[in-house]
This record gives sequence, structure tokens and C-alpha cells, in this order.
Amino acid sequence: MEVLSVTSEVYPLVKTGGLADVTGALPAALAERGISMRTLVPGYPAVRAKIAGGRVVAEFADLFGGSARLIAARAEGLDLIVIDAPQLYDRPGNPYLGPDGRDWPDNWRRFAALSWVAHELAQGLVEGYRPQVLHAHDWQAGLVPAYVKYGPSDRIRTVMTVHNIAFQGRFGPEIFGYLGLPPHAYSITGVEYFAGVGYLKAGLECADVVTTVSPTYAAEIRTAAFGMGFEGLLDARSATVSGILNGIDTAAWDPATDPALAATYTASTIHKRAVNKAVLQEAFGLEKGDGPLFGIVRRLAWQKGIDLIISCLDMLVAEGGQLAVLGSGDAELETALRAAVLRHPGKVGFIAGYDEKLSHLVQGGADVMMVPSRFEPCGLTQLYALRYGCIPLVARVGGLNDTVIDANVAALNAGVATGVQFAPPDAHALADAIRRTLDLYRQPETWKKMQRRGMKSEVSWEASAGRYAEIYANLLGLKHDQDD
Ligand code: ADP
Ligand code: GLC
Repeated sequence: MEVLSVTSEVYPLVKTGGLADVTGALPAALAERGISMRTLVPGYPAVRAKIAGGRVVAEFADLFGGSARLIAARAEGLDLIVIDAPQLYDRPGNPYLGPDGRDWPDNWRRFAALSWVAHELAQGLVEGYRPQVLHAHDWQAGLVPAYVKYGPSDRIRTVMTVHNIAFQGRFGPEIFGYLGLPPHAYSITGVEYFAGVGYLKAGLECADVVTTVSPTYAAEIRTAAFGMGFEGLLDARSATVSGILNGIDTAAWDPATDPALAATYTASTIHKRAVNKAVLQEAFGLEKGDGPLFGIVRRLAWQKGIDLIISCLDMLVAEGGQLAVLGSGDAELETALRAAVLRHPGKVGFIAGYDEKLSHLVQGGADVMMVPSRFEPCGLTQLYALRYGCIPLVARVGGLNDTVIDANVAALNAGVATGVQFAPPDAHALADAIRRTLDLYRQPETWKKMQRRGMKSEVSWEASAGRYAEIYANLLGLKHDQDD
């Protein structure tokens, strides 16, 4: 079976968040099930730098305003088809934002081109290659199902995966005429959204199947509190909406072999984490000591509840805790974190920026990973934390609800707790959860048991790859061997 994954980022070539981790790991997980997945990705400089040995498989005289080539290449274990269109993608830095930190004004064109090319490929643009299923990720690939729906072939199947419904790709009505869609596509059952064009809306409306990245988020986005305007649409097609939990790349994230750690360890040598903790304290300018060290690795955004942590900081420090924050994003949150460092020297450390290697060290050295999201489709940092024996402290939303077992009395007695959950996502509930976490930390035997249990939690792609395989097979009317 041939599936084409259509995405605006893919690890390790280009990453701004969990989407890249997922699109980077899924092809290998599916290969074990006999599914061949290629990845269609824009030719940003970081991508083009990795495909030197590739070959040109198609050319366009005019792809949304300029000539372009498609380059097929194998890089970093991925089968890629790269859109080499300098006028659209030859820009350094973040794939979505210009140097001023704002969306590129022509993002509508850059990502319409991505979807357009996917549809062309499914129609046989490249000899000897014809994907049967187009798997579109997030709004950047949201037009894929629309091009298929309004295109000539009714044999192409589409899956739309929502990684974050907050990012919707909304543009003015004036762009519609440039998309290459027939006039009747500009309708409520097509791409029209609040008198403009909605890319994610188009995908959610036109795809054969919609998935999102956890069962809880799949239920949440059918409600007004989380659906961000799409609750009605999703509720109406709920029979074809499902939640499939993300897994993680357990080879890239393995504390037994991780080269980013100062000391590698397993569940039975968990005491070696102390070496990483000391290195981490040094890196973040924190005092040495064995009080509880809380870690944060996140985009600094409202979604991620950083402000809630800042509200609880004085209490956390008064209780003997330390905090190490690795993150980049909103300028206001960065300023607030810098102020917190000045207020609590040696107790709070903040490294602004994006640092993949350091993120591994935080997982391998901190005692607690804080994930106080206001909403979280899946969340990956709590999964990495589980695998690294770093206790996740999470808001009870989305995928955080599905992946962490709260250390309440029943769970502790049953020997199944792996972390701490709190609800609702506000500063008051977070403060209570921090106190509960500190209590647990003061019970070293209980703590160690939770760490070991977390390290053994199932966080791989195994089961979820099976669910995707099943969806593709159902779409193609094939019988699927259920072996998960
Ligand atoms: P989201 O995609 O919403 O940002 P996820 O938890 O799914 O949230 O994925 C975030 C990914 O980005 C994880 O792999 C995490 O380790 C990584 N990450 C986030 N911020 C940073 C940072 N400042 N430095 C390094 N890695 C980061
Ligand atoms: C999004 C979500 C995050 C999810 C990731 C990968 O960025 O915010 O919760 O883990 O996509 O699916």
C-alpha cells in the first residue's frame, strides 16, 4: 500500500514542534506493517541541504507563481519528495514566520502549493508512483482533501489529521481565485469559512476520514470549549472522526543510549540520573543540591500554561524546589521568565531558544516535567518524561489525560500511578498539584516506583501504527490483519 504523508515539517529535517516528531516517526512504524509511506515536504533550505543525492522526478513551469521541481530523495531514513520552489520556500529560519516574527504574507500560496502537488502526485504525475491514500497533516495540508474532492479522480482516499485545531489557516476571500478550484468549491461544504477561505476547514469538511492525536482530544473538539468553531462540523461527522494517540521514536529517545545525556541509565540504574541533574543545574545556573528540580521544555505560548507556572513560582521555591525552563516563543512570557530568574537567583533558570540536545538533558536530569497545558491535542514531552523516569505533572486535558496515570490513593494502592494530574488548568489547581508532587518526592520509595513504572509505560508507535494501518485499509476496502 502506498501512502503519501503531506506535511509542512518532518523531524529531523525541519521541526517547530510535535508535528515534526510524529511525521518523522510514523513512516518507519508503518513500514513494519508493509505500508510504504513517502513524505511530501516543502524545500526549505534546511531540507534542500539534506537531499544532495536526490533526482528530479517532475518539473512545473509555473507552480503558484514560479517554476519548480520535485526531487525524490532518501534522507535520514525517510523517503522524501521535496518541492524545490525557491520563490515559495527558499527562506531561512522558521518555516512559517518571517524575520519580523509574523506569518509570511504568502503562506496561503506556499501551502496551497504543497496540497496541489500532493493531488498531482496521486493522479500519476510521476511515472511508476501513485499513492492510494493522501494523509494530510494540519492546516498547511488542509487543501489536499479539497483538491481531491473537486478533482477528476474519485479513487484517491484522504485522511486529515488535526494536530492542533487552534491553527486553522484562515485567509481572505480574494485568494480563492488563485487556488485552482472550481467556483462551487467556495461553499459551506467546501473551502469557504466565515466569508473567507479556511484551509483546515476544507480538510475537515472534505476528507474521507478525520483523525486527531488522542482519544480525549477527539471528544473535546466536538465541544464548544475546545472545538474553536469546528465543534458542529466535527460532531456532525463524528462517525468518521477518531483519536489515535501519538507514539514516540523509542530509539531516538532512549535513556540507555542517549548521547545527549551526561550519564545514560536504565530503570535499574536510575540513581545515575543524579549525574545529569548536576549537569543540568550547572547549565541553568542553579545551585547544587538534591531538592526537587522541575523542568520545562515548551513553546512559550498561552496554550502551554507557562503563565500558570509563573503564578506558582514563589511557592515552588519556598518549598525547596528549583525550576529549569527551556523554551522560546511569546516575548511577554520570556520577559516574565527573565524577571523570575532575577527574583530567585540559583533557584530558577531560563534558557531562551530551541535546543534539541538540551531538551534531552532536561528529560534525563529533572525530577519533574511540568506540562500544565490549557489544551493539549496529544503532547509529547510527557511521553519523553515517562520514558526518562522524569515524573510528569500534567493538566488533565487531551492526550495528557490519556497518557499519565494520576497518583491518587487508588492508583498508588493499585501500583499503577505514573505522574500527577490536575484540573481545571488554572493556577490554583496547579499549586495543589505542585504540593502533591512535593509530598510524593519526600517518599523516595514511592517516587522511585513511579519512575520505574513510567519508564516501562507503553509509549511506542506499535499500537497506533496499527490503527492508522487499519484506517488506510478500510478506506481502500482491503481486509486488514489485526495484529495489535
Ligand atoms: P507542540 O507540538 O504543541 O509544541 P508537543 O509536546 O507535541 O507540543 O511537542 C513539542 C516538541 O518540541 C517536543 O519534541 C519537545 O521536546 C520539543 N520542544 C519544544 N520546545 C523546545 C525547545 N525550546 N527546545 C527543544 N525542543 C523543544
Ligand atoms: C501539536 C499539538 C501537540 C501534539 C503535536 C503532535 O503541535 O499541540 O499536542 O503532540 O501536535 O501531534
